[in-house]
Amino acid sequence: MRKPLVVANWKMNTSLADATILATSVKNAVEGLDVDIVLCPPFVWLYPVWEILEKSPKNLYLGAQNMWFTSTGAMTGEISPSMVKKMADFVILGHSERRQNLHETNELINDKVIAALEHDLTPIICVGEVKKQGLARRAGRPTRLETNSDIAKQLRLALNGLSSRDAEKIVIAYEPVWAISTSGTGESATGAYATEMIGRLRDVLAQKYNRPLAERIKILYGGSVDEDNIKEFIYQPEIDGVLMGGTSLRVNEFIKVCREAAGRE
Ligand code: PGA
Repeated sequence: MRKPLVVANWKMNTSLADATILATSVKNAVEGLDVDIVLCPPFVWLYPVWEILEKSPKNLYLGAQNMWFTSTGAMTGEISPSMVKKMADFVILGHSERRQNLHETNELINDKVIAALEHDLTPIICVGEVKKQGLARRAGRPTRLETNSDIAKQLRLALNGLSSRDAEKIVIAYEPVWAISTSGTGESATGAYATEMIGRLRDVLAQKYNRPLAERIKILYGGSVDEDNIKEFIYQPEIDGVLMGGTSLRVNEFIKVCREAAGRE
């Protein structure tokens, strides 16, 4: 059994006061729940949130939303894996907002994944298609959009050069771009759709490594998850947890989702 994991991606949100209240409230609410929780504040609030979480329950972790892949040097505006590791255990890599707005490539994401593992950080590797897929395989050549958002290719390239031992330490977040709450489509994925796509990702892992290892790697779903639809995802055996944006900023809803993920609601 893979222990469920809930990741809070605060994105570029929260004042210091908001971050403090959120982190403190989550810390006070999640002790003893059978779920691991990762809070990912903006870089500037990592240190204050780290202080808040210092004596926190063992199931509550800190994560960064991104990092660069080299250790020190001339890279204005970036932070390094060793800086992140001073405070955090996880790092989100390859989020679709960075792929789209900052043109992050699969190769750059792979460099970051390798650097994260070298620094004993757990990379949460995000992959997702831009447009909703028909679940049956379509005939004909794929369009450029389909090729660019081919989740199997995104995953294979992110894992380039990773050994089986490395792969044991990763987390994957399947996030269909069209289902993210701010994407403007107003759509969210169904549990069945997410299950099918996550199954495909697990097949990629099984081909690259082997089936038992693929079964041990956590694959999360992300995209418009909230307290109303969490049940749709969390009880699917293929789905090992969720990555949340908007809902992670609303503390009561977020805690409800954590409790649901732990089988406590
Ligand atoms: P959302 O964001 O939960 O607001 O849809 C998820 C994400 O982009 O990571």
